[in-house]
Amino acid sequence: MATIRWSDDLIIDDSQIDFQHHQLIDAMSDLEDALAAGDPGRVAEAAPFLRLYAQVHFADEERVLALIAWPGLEEHRLLHRSFNRRLDELEGAVARGDLAAGTTLLGFLAAWLQGHIRGADRAFAEQVRALRQTK
Ligand SMILES: [Fe+2]
Ligand SMILES: [Fe+2]
Repeated sequence: MATIRWSDDLIIDDSQIDFQHHQLIDAMSDLEDALAAGDPGRVAEAAPFLRLYAQVHFADEERVLALIAWPGLEEHRLLHRSFNRRLDELEGAVARGDLAAGTTLLGFLAAWLQGHIRGADRAFAEQVRALRQTK
């Protein structure tokens, strides 16, 4: 039984960003299901998707932060980079279907994504909402 699921308390109330966060959380849930099933093939599929989708999401989010002239943009960029660095470390083994590496990746994602969305991402939500309303 998987435990990591999208829930409304992750919403920051920006449709594009929320949609992308939802996709990332769903990808994490898929990894959890694959690990619970002990399926190396499905575990292997998780790494490239997460890498690609996180890149798209971080780029979109940083573009929005630049648009609102968010003073914490550089700091936020560094947080995204720290995610990428950890993925760099785990990606190879996960892509080979290594279940232990998959479990380590899942633990990292569960802590990082939820903490980041509820903290650093939520911090700029109000200003992004204001920007979208002026469009
Ligand atoms: Fe972010
Ligand atoms: Fe985000």
